[in-house]
Amino acid sequence: MTNSSICEIDGVKGNLYYRGYPIKQLAAKSSFLETVFLLIWGELPTQKELTEFEKEVQMHRRLSFRVRDMMKCFPASGHPMDALQSSAASLGLFYSRRVIDDPKYVYNAVIRLIAKIPTMVAGFQLIRKGHDPIQPRDDLSYSSNFLYMLTEREQDPLAARVFDKCLILHAEHSLNASTFSARVTASTLTDPYAVIASAVGTLAGPLHGGANEDVIAMLEEIGSPENAGAFLDDALTQKKKIMGFGHREYKVKDPRAEILQELAEELFARFGKDKMYDIAKSLESEAISRLGPKGIYPNVDFYSGLVYKKLGIPKDLFTPIFAISRVGGWLAHWREQLGANRIYRPSQIYTGSKNRDWLPLENR
Ligand code: COA
Repeated sequence: MTNSSICEIDGVKGNLYYRGYPIKQLAAKSSFLETVFLLIWGELPTQKELTEFEKEVQMHRRLSFRVRDMMKCFPASGHPMDALQSSAASLGLFYSRRVIDDPKYVYNAVIRLIAKIPTMVAGFQLIRKGHDPIQPRDDLSYSSNFLYMLTEREQDPLAARVFDKCLILHAEHSLNASTFSARVTASTLTDPYAVIASAVGTLAGPLHGGANEDVIAMLEEIGSPENAGAFLDDALTQKKKIMGFGHREYKVKDPRAEILQELAEELFARFGKDKMYDIAKSLESEAISRLGPKGIYPNVDFYSGLVYKKLGIPKDLFTPIFAISRVGGWLAHWREQLGANRIYRPSQIYTGSKNRDWLPLENR
């Protein structure tokens, strides 16, 4: 059991709070960078603090040519999460870890990580397509700039606004596996780049960050809204998990799924519908009678893939985008861990053989 004042989940009522602020208010009124500031420093920034924070992040978005050249040596067939983990870890080579108790070092590390992780994700996407990464644009906001660096063209402001809200929704979720990993790594007092790299590696697993990719594959397999009921019956008979459903904490629909569904609808109204959305809605309504009694409802991953797909983002970038957002939460936990640090050392119960005599090879 760990104390934390960063995030509260009410899984029975379906509420989520960052530093006491309801996620619905933050998604409606805040920006991703403002939310990150709140998560990391505990209070909403003043206008002056926010302007300075945004400016600092903007100034540190570029990557050293050494990091870019290193990324060019990665295999184009490699998973973007592996590329991100390696690139994030490499920052530790550039910025010394010996001053970890210096607030200035902490501030700079926060700025660098928030600023550079999106550039790394977009950079690897272009590199694996055989293009050179493009430089960030100072006239664009955090999210507009990311979409620009990723797609090599400026996107509609609605796309950038929706994307920014997606980042807010994924920024923090208490002690999930990757955040736990971040805290364990932080507790050794290693550098923050290693903290983030370890969290990225943990997020990469399909039981954690990868489920929204699987949702799209599942919807493709279902093929049409009429097939949703039969698909569910068949999958549940075979004891298969329905991707994008269920959560250890929520026993009702995940509040983030509600907001993401609204965002998906906004995008469809403007840019045209995706037929997968009708399949998703049909699946959700068919699932109510079958899974609802067990407290299993859509989670954050159910509609996020549809939003990203509409924004033209390739499926294997869904999890790296999750990482761009969650770095805010991981850094908040890094700071909190440093504030009252004790190295993690879970106790174990030994279940192996005891006190055996070594045998020579010929006797085994
Ligand atoms: N589809 C069908 N049944 C599900 C289910 C799902 N998505 N999620 C949970 N269940 C069922 C389990 O089969 C189990 O049933 P049983 O008690 O009859 O055996 C019961 O609910 C408890 O499941 P369990 O896996 O122990 O719950 P958990 O809290 O450990 O799991 C998840 C949480 C998220 C890992 C799980 O719901 C899941 O695998 N969901 C699909 C993957 C996903 O969307 N992940 C993203 C999470 S944000």
